[in-house]
Amino acid sequence: MTNKIAIIGFGNIANAIITPLLDKKLIQPEDVYCLVKSEKSLEKLKKDYKHNINVYESSSQESKIIWDCQVKLLSVKPQQLKDIIEANNIKIRDSLLVSIVAGVSINRLTQKFPNHKCVRVVTNIPITIGKGLTGISWGEKISKDQKQFTKTLFENTSKVYEFNEDYLDIFLALTSSGPAIIALIIEALSDGGLSGGLPKILSEELVMEMILGTISLIKEKKLTTSELKNLVTSPGGTTISALRVLEKKSLRSSLIESIVSASNRSKEFN
Ligand SMILES: NC(=O)c1ccc[n+]([C@@H]2O[C@H](COP(=O)([O-])OP(=O)(O)OC[C@H]3O[C@@H](n4cnc5c(N)ncnc54)[C@H](OP(=O)(O)O)[C@@H]3O)[C@@H](O)[C@H]2O)c1
Repeated sequence: MTNKIAIIGFGNIANAIITPLLDKKLIQPEDVYCLVKSEKSLEKLKKDYKHNINVYESSSQESKIIWDCQVKLLSVKPQQLKDIIEANNIKIRDSLLVSIVAGVSINRLTQKFPNHKCVRVVTNIPITIGKGLTGISWGEKISKDQKQFTKTLFENTSKVYEFNEDYLDIFLALTSSGPAIIALIIEALSDGGLSGGLPKILSEELVMEMILGTISLIKEKKLTTSELKNLVTSPGGTTISALRVLEKKSLRSSLIESIVSASNRSKEFN
């Protein structure tokens, strides 16, 4: 990876994507040009960040240098996007702009950055520990090398899937909103343990180990979810009693609707 890369918004997710690449020397610190908005973030990065990258405050004159980079990773919050204005004297035409901004379509990116080839990416929070899931949709006329470069950006920290853009909203709902849904389920099940008299910390640990063990079992024995369910549900037993309550309270339908709702909300951002 030899291109100069600009990071427009070096926050949590950009940090999670770029730091492992720097750690593995797949990109060199002197090739990385980062923009942040505040003086506070600028100072923090300069003082505390372990790699000696180039960092600029977005309002400074020198920050214009980022528009000369062959690749840009756009990683500001959706509401901050309006402040990012493409320079009008770009030297390199058709450079690559990879956006991880939630819900912003390739069409909108292309209108906003007409001198760039735009790629829309959805990734999720486990990318911060190298266990992310990343969905990529290509804009028009992206070269083979640019595709390979984009995939390399994410492959170190996540499993990468390529999609038609139509699927990105539902991919986002499942994978980006999913961790919050799972956290809520862990919390609620732990509260169940708490109600039965277990200490909070122990209850939460048991729930998480149970979930990890269940996933491993399904994967290792190649079970379907129905097979796993039938394995632990005996006639007149405790599990069918628990499942009956969940069916009565429409848990299954609530989860389906939660994903549909998150996907619809993502479409509204556009
Ligand atoms: N969090 C998630 O779970 C998640 C998952 C997948 C994708 N995403 C997407 O990733 C993007 C970034 O999220 P994040 O959680 O990393 O956000 P974040 O930590 O708040 O980072 C945003 C960064 O953008 C900078 N910034 C703000 N305005 C700017 C401007 N005008 N010019 C240059 N830089 C500017 C901020 O600088 P200051 O610190 O100085 O304000 C900060 O470095 C979002 O669009 C989000 O939708 C998030």
